[in-house]
Amino acid sequence: MNHQPILVTCGLPYTNGRCHLGHLRTYVPADFFVRFLRRTGQEVVFICGSDNHGTPIVVSAEEEGILPRDLSLRYHKHFDETFKQLSINFDHFGMTDGEVNHRRTRSIVQRLIDKGYVYKKTIQQSYCAKCCRFLPDRYVEGNCPYCGVSARGDECDQGCGRHLEPGEIKNPRCRVCGQSAELREQEHYYFKLSEFRDFLLSYLPDLGGTVIARNYAIGWVKEELHDWCITRTLDWGVRFPGAEHLVVYVWVDAPIGYISFTEEWAEKTGEDWKAFWCGDIAPVTHFIGSDIIYHHTIFWPAMLKGAGYGVPEAIVASGMLKVNDQKFSKSRGYVVWTGEDYLEKGMSPDYLRYYLLSYTNHTKDLNFAWKVFQERMNNEVVGTLGNFIYRTLYFAYKFFGQIPETSPDETISAEIQRSIDRIETSVRAYEFKSAVDELMALAAYGNSYIQNNAPWQVVKTDRQAAETIIRTCLQIVHALTLLLEPVMPVSAQKVWSMLGNNDDVGTHRFSEALDPLPPRTLPAPQPPFQKIEDENVRELEATLQARVEAAQMKAKSREEVSIEDFGKIDIRVGTITSAVPVKGSKKLLKLQVHVGEEERQIVGGIAEFYSAEELVGKEVVVVLNLKPVKIFGIESRGMILAAGDQASLLVPLRPVEPGTKVR
Ligand code: 2FM
Ligand code: ZN
Repeated sequence: MNHQPILVTCGLPYTNGRCHLGHLRTYVPADFFVRFLRRTGQEVVFICGSDNHGTPIVVSAEEEGILPRDLSLRYHKHFDETFKQLSINFDHFGMTDGEVNHRRTRSIVQRLIDKGYVYKKTIQQSYCAKCCRFLPDRYVEGNCPYCGVSARGDECDQGCGRHLEPGEIKNPRCRVCGQSAELREQEHYYFKLSEFRDFLLSYLPDLGGTVIARNYAIGWVKEELHDWCITRTLDWGVRFPGAEHLVVYVWVDAPIGYISFTEEWAEKTGEDWKAFWCGDIAPVTHFIGSDIIYHHTIFWPAMLKGAGYGVPEAIVASGMLKVNDQKFSKSRGYVVWTGEDYLEKGMSPDYLRYYLLSYTNHTKDLNFAWKVFQERMNNEVVGTLGNFIYRTLYFAYKFFGQIPETSPDETISAEIQRSIDRIETSVRAYEFKSAVDELMALAAYGNSYIQNNAPWQVVKTDRQAAETIIRTCLQIVHALTLLLEPVMPVSAQKVWSMLGNNDDVGTHRFSEALDPLPPRTLPAPQPPFQKIEDENVRELEATLQARVEAAQMKAKSREEVSIEDFGKIDIRVGTITSAVPVKGSKKLLKLQVHVGEEERQIVGGIAEFYSAEELVGKEVVVVLNLKPVKIFGIESRGMILAAGDQASLLVPLRPVEPGTKVR
């Protein structure tokens, strides 16, 4: 067993939006891995932090009209709290905008400059003449020069996934105003990535972690290595040493955050951060999403090597997330928010951990669907695992009130040990699904054992035999609980207490799975897991469906329509002749609108903004040829046009006859 402490990190979330299941696809397995290694006796330091710089943050802050620092503080806190709610327990969660990271980044960049790995170059940069500024990274949109698909300035995020250098994107447009960008000359600094080809070709074949990350990286290096522009024209970021009007590219200071956060952790604990980062090979395992393999396997090791630091031992890349078989996409509504859609609905954090770990192999895409989620929890977690644990504890409590003072069936040790060995082999190969499957196989074994031996029958005639059966089952539950801790820490603790323990299950090791269980008193047990009801799932599915539909509507509203199509909509001016609140609704008013030749009944959701009295006599604009619908059982034949969240009614500037067509 290797006792040298290792460092495990997770990719740093940008502080420009909330936590969603796409994030957790990486963080949950990383936390599982760390807990697992600790249960084997391995010392592990688990580090992460938030990624505060770069255009993702500046663009979002600008859209909200706040400072990037304030946006970062808000989401930093959000991620920190959310991770804790999911039992993802980092030893330290830093910020790349912290003082330590500014200092460490400048020192590393200075070293790269001193060693001749950085050069100056005048390049053609996208510039928006209307906004009067250069357009770094996400400020510019256009088409990927390699695959032609829509892309951001520094990344072909929708297509081939390639990193794009400034000036490379085709048909550049300003993201803020939409105007075509022009190219203007600007002086920037480049990192000589191409000089690291030989180093990477010798380093990568021995890189640990998932095969997919290693193989992609080797393929890219063999293809071609381009130097990287490492400066940006922004006010927000780490100042570039010697050219303080520029900041470093976010992909320089973000991974350096891994070192800075180790320093911050070491400062808190009195440990030595250099032990991790200053040898040849750093005992560091990075857990990342597969969209950032290039940055971690090529750019980051080259930068570390160039600056004289150790290079990571392993890169573990997780597959991406799908929602209802669709590529995860916030803009298309295929997103599940960790807080709003899950934790705030009272769903168990442990269930989500189980699903994320066991749905598919770590490197494959994981599909999230509420129905499947429900089925798996109810059948596997509640039906197999929970059932076995509860039956064992229930019969032990009912018949004996304590752990029986006898030895378990002698075959059980070998069975448990086999499971532990298989689980350990799987985890060390980053096969987390197989590990969880093995654990469930042990639970299924326990279920068959208790079913076949029927202690509830045996106890009537042979109390001693019943004691042995229950004692055997308790040994399995004890082992299962230790093995369950990395997967579902909260539930494992609950079961641990029901086994009569009064300490933290997380302080124990797998090697104790076969230890004799002292004959202690057992508390009255509770079922450890609860079923997910159909009603809950229907509500969760409806929320997702509504989000997708809203996104489709939004996309449609941006589509161009022909003048002929527009002409099909019958829009007229009308006068409200009567308005009455709809019983049972705070939002609706039943309106009669005089539209020339007829009186129309229209139900409108404007009661929160207007009183019925103030509306009577008002001229409004109405769509007449919508299909009639029933709202709260009342027929509505048309729609009154209003704008914005406060439903500001559209009115003609000068009085016109009711029924006048809007053109
Ligand atoms: O892609 C992202 O979300 C980045 N914020 C990940 C950074 S990981 C590391 F290199 F810092
Ligand atoms: Zn592309």
